[in-house]
Amino acid sequence: MERTFSRRWRALGACALLIAACASSDLDLDERSGATSTTPPPSESTVSPSETAGTPQGAMGADGVGDPYYPGLGNGGYDVATYDLDIEWMPDTGTVDATAAIVLVPTEDLDTFNLDLEGLDVERVVVDGEEVVHAHAGRELTIDPAALLVAGDDVEVVVDYGGEPTPIRVGTDVFRVGWHTDGRDAYVVSEPAGAASWFPANDHPTDKARFRFVVTVPSDLGVIANGLQTSMSDTGDGRTTFVYEASDLMATYLASVVIGDLVFVEESTASGLLLRSAYPRRLADAAATDFADTAAMVEVFERSFGPYPFETYGHVVADEVLGFALENQTLSIFGSDLVTGRGAIDAIVAHELAHQWFGNAVSPATWMDIWLNEGFATYAEWVWAAGSDGPTIAESAAAVHARADFGVPPGDPGPEELFQATVYLRGGLVLYALSQEIGHDAFDRLLPLWVERFGGSAASTADLRALAEELSGQDLEAFFDAWVYGATLPPLP
Ligand code: ARG
Ligand code: ZN
Repeated sequence: MERTFSRRWRALGACALLIAACASSDLDLDERSGATSTTPPPSESTVSPSETAGTPQGAMGADGVGDPYYPGLGNGGYDVATYDLDIEWMPDTGTVDATAAIVLVPTEDLDTFNLDLEGLDVERVVVDGEEVVHAHAGRELTIDPAALLVAGDDVEVVVDYGGEPTPIRVGTDVFRVGWHTDGRDAYVVSEPAGAASWFPANDHPTDKARFRFVVTVPSDLGVIANGLQTSMSDTGDGRTTFVYEASDLMATYLASVVIGDLVFVEESTASGLLLRSAYPRRLADAAATDFADTAAMVEVFERSFGPYPFETYGHVVADEVLGFALENQTLSIFGSDLVTGRGAIDAIVAHELAHQWFGNAVSPATWMDIWLNEGFATYAEWVWAAGSDGPTIAESAAAVHARADFGVPPGDPGPEELFQATVYLRGGLVLYALSQEIGHDAFDRLLPLWVERFGGSAASTADLRALAEELSGQDLEAFFDAWVYGATLPPLP
């Protein structure tokens, strides 16, 4: 009894600490729910010999990975291997009834650990088959297993949860991130911190995992998610269950499910990559026109960046005015406002495709490194233009350079406005200037080698500089200081 009590107290203590950590981040915490905790039913748990001594043996996993912009994002002490998400969508109430089965591996012996989950209700947490104490406050779900979790051993965590998913505000971005619903439809756009709005996650790009999605919806709706559909079955009571498996390692913010009245289309590229997409019925013809160059883009990018890094690619259009597109892994999502059928969005289509190499295969090590996503994808727009009878890369760079003074350094745009123009445009100029600085031979090897070396994990601006120095034999400190971190935009070389 006393043991249960003290464990419960410690779990709440971890949450109190967490609130302090979260409050210092730039996530909007206004909608944070009050703390709740549970006591597990009495059980015959296996207690390790050292546990009976009554002293804590393991660490309390940290409640954030210490990202310089959003310190409360993600958690310390473990790596997630797989997320298996079973979600029933109930459009009449706008709610989900869900179970997340997560396999994680502790990187140190753990007494307690956290997952990020915001705004939903947790009914039950089971660790390795046994129901355990949990406490939920704000973004942090603190889990207190009955026995020590041993570093290196697989742990299965099952979280039963549900409620009305609500998108999350980050900094001054007008767009909220996470699970959105529009009538019966639902879609997910999470960058950078929205995964926690719909599943318990280690919500930081440094912890990539494999995903499986089992999504049940009323049978008049269709579902698409990252990866490949492995089954679709009628439940016999007016609902359909869709299963998708995403077997390439993926950051949590790129996980996405889209539900709607969807038309599914498939084609193959010349190199045999399956392109599968889903569009709202009313936009299917326009989308076919607007995405028609995708296979050609894959070819151009494979020549410059190396092999396409994942098992499939495609587009989904949300039946909603988003004002942007987002590079969800293997399945970029576009707002309906972008799809007009005039064939005029090649730059955006190329941009999101390029993110599959830059941003998705190679993730940003911290959110301060966002220019490694957006600057590279912007540069790739110029690569596509040059490869399809448009302006040369030098002409595109000169036109962008003349446009504004971009007085915020792309390497440190601040956490309030991650997606500001300097990150994209001055970020793209960094790569063009780097190609001039180190020469084309070294630069042409840099981009594919970047993906080869860091694909499947995360990399930082310092990693990029080290690789460019390795390939060129030059010291690039002054170059990076001026182009990536300097307050003023340098002149074009
Ligand atoms: N990464 C996306 C792109 O450049 C942009 C996402 C914008 N998201 C936002 N919350 N404002 O394609
Ligand atoms: Zn982008």
